[in-house]
Amino acid sequence: MTDLDFQGKKVLITGGAGFVGSNVTERVVKSNGKAIVLDDLFTGTLDNITKGTEYEFVEGSVADVELVNKLAKKVDYIAHMAARNIIISTKNPRNDYEVNIGGTLNILLAANEHKVERVVYTSSASVYGNPRILPITEDERTLTFSPYSVSKLAGENYCHAFYETYGTPVTSVRYSNIYGPKQDPKNPYCGVVSKFIEMLDNNERPYLHGDGQQTRDFTYVDDAVDGTLLALLSPKAEGQVYNIGTGVETKIVELYQMIAELMGKDAKPKYIDRRDIDNIRRRAVSIELIRTRLRWQPQIGIQQGLKRTLEWYNSL
Ligand SMILES: NC(=O)c1ccc[n+]([C@@H]2O[C@H](COP(=O)([O-])OP(=O)(O)OC[C@H]3O[C@@H](n4cnc5c(N)ncnc54)[C@H](O)[C@@H]3O)[C@@H](O)[C@H]2O)c1
Repeated sequence: MTDLDFQGKKVLITGGAGFVGSNVTERVVKSNGKAIVLDDLFTGTLDNITKGTEYEFVEGSVADVELVNKLAKKVDYIAHMAARNIIISTKNPRNDYEVNIGGTLNILLAANEHKVERVVYTSSASVYGNPRILPITEDERTLTFSPYSVSKLAGENYCHAFYETYGTPVTSVRYSNIYGPKQDPKNPYCGVVSKFIEMLDNNERPYLHGDGQQTRDFTYVDDAVDGTLLALLSPKAEGQVYNIGTGVETKIVELYQMIAELMGKDAKPKYIDRRDIDNIRRRAVSIELIRTRLRWQPQIGIQQGLKRTLEWYNSL
């Protein structure tokens, strides 16, 4: 783990009760910082934040201009992670627009007004659509295949525009399929790792959408948190966009087999129709930029990450 020091600093974490956000909240506190969590608890829950962690919680929305302004005034940094996720956004693109785009604009306006030292914005590798070359570098053209990827890219574009126009200190990170502890399998919107674990644990026959040959670059949450906070603190990261992933491509069927093996299960998965959101065939992101500029690289491979995730799941 990277040494991070937030001594004397206050960090606003929007979406700080969510899967990745709660991990960020805990890391900020462990690194001597003060955390303020703004979350409307739409998919997040305060149970995600380990008991004994000292933080301030504000229930509310990033779409609330006054509230965002009031909070930005109090902090040194903002980790802007609140978002409607891809499943919700596909069902309700207008709500996605209001939260993911409108909320990001509110954060940037407030950060600019109150001279926040840095905003880190959590974007998504979904902005690449189906890439031409793997691993995907940050200069690959963007291709938005879902309302969610439109809104995540719009947020990034606003960050870039604010940096260029007003000099607002922002950094965007493009996450690739984060998994790990606190990705609640009870949450219907959670990622595939948690879903497989839960179905296997319940002795259900897990289903795979499509042919299972589609690939993703699975990133362990502690690594993603490290990269995000390094990007928040590093002067070199100002105005930049970095991929956060591993560069390793894993087929969904292989992921399933790894999890089943670790859990000692031999259920054959059933293949069902692909969903409207399953339109990206392959993904692995290049991490050369963040590795060379910020000296960040993932520490946890997929086998180890899955083992840790299972340990967490079994401890619930
Ligand atoms: N998990 C991944 O694989 C992944 C991949 C790419 C990008 N991201 C991005 O990372 C961030 C965190 O994702 P996550 O996986 O932890 O999702 P999550 O759904 O667990 O967390 C999002 C949090 O934001 C909160 N939220 C939603 N709307 C809000 C609003 N209007 N105001 C305040 N809070 C609100 C939710 O309640 C939740 O706690 C998001 O911005 C997401 O787009 C995640």
